Amino acid sequence: MANALKIGIAGLGTVGASLVRILSQRHNKLTDICGRPLEVVAVSARDATKDRGIDITPYQFYADPVDLAANADIDVFVELMGGEGDPALSAVRVALARGCHAVTANKALLARHGVELATIAEDQGVLLNFEAAVAGGIPVIKAMRESLTGNNISRVFGIMNGTCNYILTEMERGGLSFQDCLKEAQRLGYAEADPTFDVEGNDTAHKLALLTSLAFGTQIAVDDIYLEGISNISIEDIRAADALGFRIKLLGVAQKTDSGIEQRVHPTMVPKDSVIAQVDGVTNAVAIDADILGELLMSGPGAGGDATASAVLGDIADIAKSRPGHQHGPVLGRPARLLDPYVKARMRSHEGGYFIRLTVEDKAGVFANLSKHMSDSNISLESIVQRPGFDNGNHKTIILVTHATMEASVRTAVEAISGDGYLVDKPQVIRIERPGRA
Ligand code: NAP
Ligand code: HSE
Repeated sequence: MANALKIGIAGLGTVGASLVRILSQRHNKLTDICGRPLEVVAVSARDATKDRGIDITPYQFYADPVDLAANADIDVFVELMGGEGDPALSAVRVALARGCHAVTANKALLARHGVELATIAEDQGVLLNFEAAVAGGIPVIKAMRESLTGNNISRVFGIMNGTCNYILTEMERGGLSFQDCLKEAQRLGYAEADPTFDVEGNDTAHKLALLTSLAFGTQIAVDDIYLEGISNISIEDIRAADALGFRIKLLGVAQKTDSGIEQRVHPTMVPKDSVIAQVDGVTNAVAIDADILGELLMSGPGAGGDATASAVLGDIADIAKSRPGHQHGPVLGRPARLLDPYVKARMRSHEGGYFIRLTVEDKAGVFANLSKHMSDSNISLESIVQRPGFDNGNHKTIILVTHATMEASVRTAVEAISGDGYLVDKPQVIRIERPGRA
């Protein structure tokens, strides 16, 4: 039998502790599958004494993860600490530079430093695997990096944050408030260390930035993503969406357009009868429009210790099975030095349907005024609805649903409406995405 693959793990929290437990429980099975034992030899965490439900006494403990990456006798460095900077950044850099393979679930790190780290890995001839960084347990990175080779991808989109999808689902079911749903997502181990990264859309943006690079062969451009989170979504929006045949999901969307690549993360109305609208709770879904294959939709658990550890384990097993001296494929599907520059399409040029919810004074002429502003901006309406069920105290709620139109036109019309003095609340504008068969 070949030598054991020696593994060092930095981070023993939700994901790291699950990984250590599974590696121990499935030791024999993994040895059979990989043709060599997978042995954890060193670990790192902030607190050496914390009860994590796993026995770490057989492993060498490093208080400093960079020290582990630099000095432990390992073949693979597994980074499960999180954070876009140090110590995760230095630890992965150091491990790759000394010729260790690396595995990480850290999308924040890769969204900021992925190209640099991929370049080091490729120069050193080692692997940098990151399946768990996007959509938890769903094998979307492998699908894009390997299985879709040769396809032209025109759009990739999906529900990529389990915490937000869990919150939106629970709010819709009517059980819990936003804050209670978030607390429950944190208790279940779904949320980031700083949960504002989840609810304000940054986590989805980190993941989308990686998928965009894989889909279009471009540099990672996380700062060019249009970003809106779910903290402004109210129960009124969810009810109105339901009445008009939609559900609200936080989507990340990357799309090729004539003027460049559009990357956006925002709450989105999706038709209730679409597959993606049925994706509930912590489940994630990623849809890819590819020209040879057609439309691919993958869904599965997007967060949680075991689901994420499953993806990390797959990455480690790939390394165990790789042949020594064999040339590895590029980290981002295309050699890091050959990635194209990212050309950004302006958000004002985005074209799509819009849901606009207005809370207005109950007085004559409002409908006529709204119609005029829509017409002045050349916006064609699919529906305009006022129902007693939507009303808010003495005020009336009017919902406009537009046909496909330019974002710039919608902004102009909403600004004009806001200037007319009959709105009693900030207008709510939510984009509509038509998912095709997904
Ligand atoms: P977590 O529960 O907060 O665990 C983080 C671990 O890193 C802890 O064990 C912590 O040590 C250790 N750590 C933090 N800073 C350290 C430092 N300076 N030195 C040494 N150890 C340090 O995080 P997690 O949920 O497992 O997430 C880990 C990574 O996976 C993140 O990048 C996250 O985005 C990603 N991810 C998580 C999920 C999920 O569902 N949780 C899913 C996909 C991807 P102590 O325990 O001693 O504090
Ligand atoms: N906080 C992330 C989520 C973890 O809720 O989806 C998985 O990346």
